[in-house]
Amino acid sequence: MTDLSPIDKAKFVAAKRAVDYVQDGMRIGLGTGSTAAWMVRCLAEKMQAEGLDIVGVPTSTRTADLARELGIPVISLDEAKWLDLTIDGADEFDGELNLIKGGGGALLQEKIVATASDRMVVIADAAKDVTALGAFPLPIEVIPFGWQTTKALVEETLINMDVLGRDTSLRMNDDTPYVTDEGNYIIDLHLRRIGNARQLSLVLNQVPGVVENGLFIDICDVVIIGHGDGRVQVR
Ligand code: 5RP
Repeated sequence: MTDLSPIDKAKFVAAKRAVDYVQDGMRIGLGTGSTAAWMVRCLAEKMQAEGLDIVGVPTSTRTADLARELGIPVISLDEAKWLDLTIDGADEFDGELNLIKGGGGALLQEKIVATASDRMVVIADAAKDVTALGAFPLPIEVIPFGWQTTKALVEETLINMDVLGRDTSLRMNDDTPYVTDEGNYIIDLHLRRIGNARQLSLVLNQVPGVVENGLFIDICDVVIIGHGDGRVQVR
C-alpha cells in the first residue's frame, strides 16, 4: 500500500483501524462511498485471515456488489433485524460527532442501518473534520412526485432557520436527475454553515415529500480520522 495517494492512504488507514472493532459472529452494517469501500476490502481480508463468521448488511447496491465480489455474506436488514456495528464514511463531522452524509446518495439506507446498530463507527480523512456543519451541501432525499413543490417548501422553511446560505439544487446525473436506490431524487442544500443541526434535521423531515435528510444527529459513537502520512486518531 506504499503507492497510495495521501487521500487514499488517509481513507485506508482509517478503514483498517475500524475493522479492529469487528469480532467473530457480528452482524455488520456496511457503509457506502470510497472510504467505506476501503473498509469492505479490509473486512474481507480480516475475515479470510482470521476465519471469522460475519454477515454484512450493505447500505447500497454498490456496496452489496463489492461485498459479494469479495466473499462477504450479505443479508438484508430485515433478515438481520439488529446489527452489532455499522462502519461508514461521512462528508463532515463536528466536535459532537454529528455528521453530514449522503454525498454518495445513500443517506436513507445509511441512516436506517446505522440507527439499527448498537454502535456506529465513522471513518474519514481529516478534511471532513469541521467546527460547524454545513460547508458540504446537505443532501435531502425527496420523492419524485411534486419534487419542485417540495423544493420550494424546503426553501421557504429555510428562511426561518439558522443557516448562512439558502440555495438548493436538484442533484443531476448527466442530463437527468440522480435517482437513489429507493427511486427517489436528491436535493442538495447549500447552507454554508448550520447553526442548529438538530433543529434543522427535525424541521426538514416535517416537509411533505422529504423522505430523509443527511444530518446524522446522536447516531455516531466513534470517528476514526485517517491522515495522509498514515497517522490515525480516534475520537
Ligand atoms: C454516501 C456517504 C459517504 O459516506 C460520504 O459521501 C463519504 O464518501 P467518501 O468516503 O467517498 O468521501 O454518505 O451516501
